[in-house]
Amino acid sequence: MSKVLMVGNWKMNMDKSSIKKFYDSFDKKDFVDGVEVVICAPFPYLGTIAELSDKISIKVGAQNMCNELAGAFTGEVSPLMLRDFNTEYVILGHSERRQIYLESDELIAEKIKIALNSGLKPILCVGEMLEEREAGKEFEKVYKQLLAASKCISLDQWHNVVIAYEPVWAIGTGKVASASDAQNMSKYIREQVKEFAGNEIAENLRILYGGSVKPSNVKELMECEDINGALVGGASLDAADFKSLWGTL
Ligand code: PGA
Repeated sequence: MSKVLMVGNWKMNMDKSSIKKFYDSFDKKDFVDGVEVVICAPFPYLGTIAELSDKISIKVGAQNMCNELAGAFTGEVSPLMLRDFNTEYVILGHSERRQIYLESDELIAEKIKIALNSGLKPILCVGEMLEEREAGKEFEKVYKQLLAASKCISLDQWHNVVIAYEPVWAIGTGKVASASDAQNMSKYIREQVKEFAGNEIAENLRILYGGSVKPSNVKELMECEDINGALVGGASLDAADFKSLWGTL
């Protein structure tokens, strides 16, 4: 299996001076061979982090993008623009996009397709709401999200796809899923991808857990067999917290 993938999702936080401070507090020795580190920054700062990332091993990611390449889409950002700033990853289908901006499974699938065709690596977020888990419908919900996306991914593109399991009730709430719940869903995701794309692709698929990941719980989560990394919101805003996520593995 490949490296552990640690992705920071800054959401709509940070500014020019806090970003400089964040990057200044990293040193080459903070990075280790087995861990790939990505920061997904707000659009206006992608150029800044791309420049700062030149000096240290943090890859550039975005948090969203348009499902079109160019044209009359006021307020949108094209995948080609992201590529212009050396962006390698893009988070798609985050629950905040699904809930607040009403992005559907179909729209997210279109975005996945155009991201892959533009040379970006999509991090597809899937996950259930609290009511769905309480009703025993978490697998059904995640299956629906995976199925829609899988229809837009060709077999030769799967190696560039990352899936993040983020139970909505665990995001920003301090309530982390138990390691066994996170492992069970990650295993389920890998099994479904096996159905969609075959054994080899499923085995090599990187599955992240996201939802209140912090230095105190990361080790247990990363030890789960089917979890290959983390998508981290709150704990990625502070450089010391963020680097300690992989410092203790
Ligand atoms: P959190 O956010 O780590 O603050 O829970 C995770 C996410 O929304 O990706």
